[in-house]
Amino acid sequence: MSTDFTATRAQFHLPDGITYLDGNSLGPLPVAAEARIARTVTEEWGEMVITGWNRAGWIDLPRRVGDRIGRLIGAEPGTVVMGDTLSIKVYQALASALEMRPDRRVILSDTGNFPSDLYMADGLVRTLGQGYALKTVAPEDVADAIDDKVAVLMLTEVDYRTGRKHDMAALTERAHAAGALTIWDLAHSAGALPVDLAGAGADFAVGCTYKYLNSGPGGPAFIYVAPRHAEVTRPALSGWLGHEAPFAFDLDYRPGRGIDRMRVGTPPILQLAALEAAMDVWDIADIHDVRARSIELTEAFIARVEAACPMLVLATPRDPERRGSQVSFRHPEGYAIMQALIAEGVIGDFRAPDILRFGFTPLYIGMDEVETAADILARIMATEAWNREDYKRRAKVT
Ligand SMILES: Cc1ncc(COP(=O)(O)O)c(C=O)c1O
Repeated sequence: MSTDFTATRAQFHLPDGITYLDGNSLGPLPVAAEARIARTVTEEWGEMVITGWNRAGWIDLPRRVGDRIGRLIGAEPGTVVMGDTLSIKVYQALASALEMRPDRRVILSDTGNFPSDLYMADGLVRTLGQGYALKTVAPEDVADAIDDKVAVLMLTEVDYRTGRKHDMAALTERAHAAGALTIWDLAHSAGALPVDLAGAGADFAVGCTYKYLNSGPGGPAFIYVAPRHAEVTRPALSGWLGHEAPFAFDLDYRPGRGIDRMRVGTPPILQLAALEAAMDVWDIADIHDVRARSIELTEAFIARVEAACPMLVLATPRDPERRGSQVSFRHPEGYAIMQALIAEGVIGDFRAPDILRFGFTPLYIGMDEVETAADILARIMATEAWNREDYKRRAKVT
């Protein structure tokens, strides 16, 4: 397939006068999602009320959408299910994986991981007691830290701050050789670059959908369990919709078949409807084309910004094969600089302590936006337009 990026762009509602480089944090509204939510509200919830669970197929939506995401991340059919938030899915995968390695006690991760993943691991370790421990090392030291004490290697493939990308296949192979299982967080990968979970032999994977998959604020997360584990793993979050027969209302929990057991409670139907519509763009977009275009855009942005702004330090790997679909620069006044950019219509975001983050999403962003954003950034840096007290005052969400 050769993706027509003019056609994909037409599928999104992009606010006038805005250069949107934050689709790595929250994707824009897909036109189809707007219509689909309206239809789900009026025709399904409005007219069918509770019968919508059967008549509109709400009950199967988590699996139906899971399969569509599965195709983007190299998952076998029937191995991905939607629900909850990503933090919950991290906990769920971790609890299952640890139980599958009962003679080991170490969760290995890296210091670049998203804090919520580490917090969830820490919480689980405290609940389990019995000598369980979370060990974190620098991202570049992960491979050497895998030993026969590690039960689970838990990593986010693409670093949320720097965009640095781990080698999933190589690290999974190394973990397996040491007898450990792997959990891959695909928050910054799914919809951004090709992922091959089955090819890499990953054991578990999780990810969110409000970034590159455009499901909207608070959209549900996904979880993948490799088919070889699906009937073995025992869910720690054993909710009724993960039961073998939810509507038998048995008092004893029996896990559902395969990936169904990773469901917990009632799924968010309006958000799932939005996500299902948002996935339509992948009928005309090829993830390999998206990746190739993303590399062109990130290369151009880095070149333009570095040429004009020597005071900004590139935090993202220079080798495009070693990064995701974002570009990050460091500056001690990064927060104020980002506020000045936003005031000029260029939306990226800031990550403490000093990272300016720009996401490149070829489905709706092209070279014009790269040039506009780089030119405005160059002007703000040259004139120090960022140097204002109101730009330095931190909002709740950065
Ligand atoms: C890598 C990673 N893991 C976990 C999370 C937390 O996700 P949620 O708020 O959906 O639980 C995020 C959120 O951005 C993330 O980027």
